[in-house]
Amino acid sequence: MRECHYMKSGCSVHELVEVLISAIEAKDNYTKGHSERVAEMTSDICSHLILSKSEVDEIHVAAHLHDLGKIYVEDAVLKKAGKLTEDEWEQIKMHPQVGENILSKVSGFGDIIKMVRHHHERWDGRGYPDGISGENIPLGARIITVADAIDAMLSERPYRPPMTLENCLIELEAGKNKQFDPMIADIAMRILAERV
Ligand SMILES: [Fe+2]
Ligand SMILES: [Fe+2]
Repeated sequence: MRECHYMKSGCSVHELVEVLISAIEAKDNYTKGHSERVAEMTSDICSHLILSKSEVDEIHVAAHLHDLGKIYVEDAVLKKAGKLTEDEWEQIKMHPQVGENILSKVSGFGDIIKMVRHHHERWDGRGYPDGISGENIPLGARIITVADAIDAMLSERPYRPPMTLENCLIELEAGKNKQFDPMIADIAMRILAERV
């Protein structure tokens, strides 16, 4: 890769990521602002955990980037209202690894890349791409999973209206030890309960 001398030590990786992802999402009303809201929620959750500032910042940036790989999923598949075919579902399931591949060219992004790869793993090991479980899943990825699910539930989709906050809380409780790390789900539920 050609060396680029236009570098500023004060350059904010966070701001750059934020503007690029919001530009990508702006073309679709249903995803507009999704990564921004997920990033905000991950930081809210992190504020209830004992983490260093740099760990919180990395999780926040990873949350902005978590669905980057979806830029290679066809719009017709992403926006499909009906049931997905097996091939379409396989295409969607590739997005964590596609995001990982895109970001692998960025040096110093190792932990962020792992969080992007693993944001669809499940606490019970039934997620993808690797089917890892429990604390084998990076903490940041477990936090993004919960924040991502909350935003998906509370957002309108082409095929359904947004879920109520009360029902979202019920889903989070039901997903503990299955999709979600129970500790992270509990923290998120406390944060959401304050909004009811
Ligand atoms: Fe942000
Ligand atoms: Fe995703």
